Amino acid sequence: MPDSPHSLDPSALPAHVAIIMDGNGRWAQERGLSRSEGHKAGVRAAKAIVTECRTLGIRHLTLYTFSQENWGRPRDEVSLLFQLLVRFLGDELSSMEKNGICLRVFGDVDGLPLAARTALRHAMNRTARCEGMIVNLALNYSGREEILRAARLLMEKGVRPDGVTEEAFRACLYSAGQPDPDLLIRTSGELRISNYLTFQSAYSELYFTSTYWPDFTPEELRKALRDYAGRSRRFGLTQEQIP
Ligand code: IPE
Ligand code: IPE
Ligand code: MG
Repeated sequence: MPDSPHSLDPSALPAHVAIIMDGNGRWAQERGLSRSEGHKAGVRAAKAIVTECRTLGIRHLTLYTFSQENWGRPRDEVSLLFQLLVRFLGDELSSMEKNGICLRVFGDVDGLPLAARTALRHAMNRTARCEGMIVNLALNYSGREEILRAARLLMEKGVRPDGVTEEAFRACLYSAGQPDPDLLIRTSGELRISNYLTFQSAYSELYFTSTYWPDFTPEELRKALRDYAGRSRRFGLTQEQIP
């Protein structure tokens, strides 16, 4: 029987899901298609996952969209990725507003191509007051750089060493005000984090699947969520101490 969203226990849903959307290139290669086609299919998969998360009531979704390291890819591929981003924002903005989805960026927006910067700022402004769900796009993002940036911000504020608390530090991260990811999913079979949410993923539950991102359907997401629901999160305590 195909599973339905109802087969998931709402109380066991993660508040924050973070995804490393990997495998577009290999998905395309296996089909004799160009990498561009793989990325286009990846955008379609991302749209379906955003919709599914909204339907399920997941409040925070963070999608690894473009890493700082990805600048090293061929120039044509990089420019296609940003074209797709601009198109995605144009196509989806009104439905995001209608569905109460607030768009945010983790990463350095100023370092993005002009068209992407403009489209992102517009989309962030338009959805700023949406309260149903937050979708964070990690763009021009590096987890290590985010940590260094937070250290710089604290120093600029003149914070003394004993003021460098976890709370003060968190307030300087892109994710300030949002919970850490409960569940971190990576598609495509790679077993690594690739500089993603380095600070915030300290206690995330990890879920790896060999499915390439374009094939990661809402059903696959629900499978990951069921797996998560069966995990025992202990945060360093003993099983007996967990309520
Ligand atoms: C993920 O797919 C998309 C981005 C990194 C932008 P890839 O393009 O990394 O696909 P593979 O890993 O080459 O298959
Ligand atoms: C991670 O995927 C970045 C994104 C999904 C945007 P990569 O394909 O860049 O990661 P590596 O190179 O396999 O570690
Ligand atoms: Mg990859």
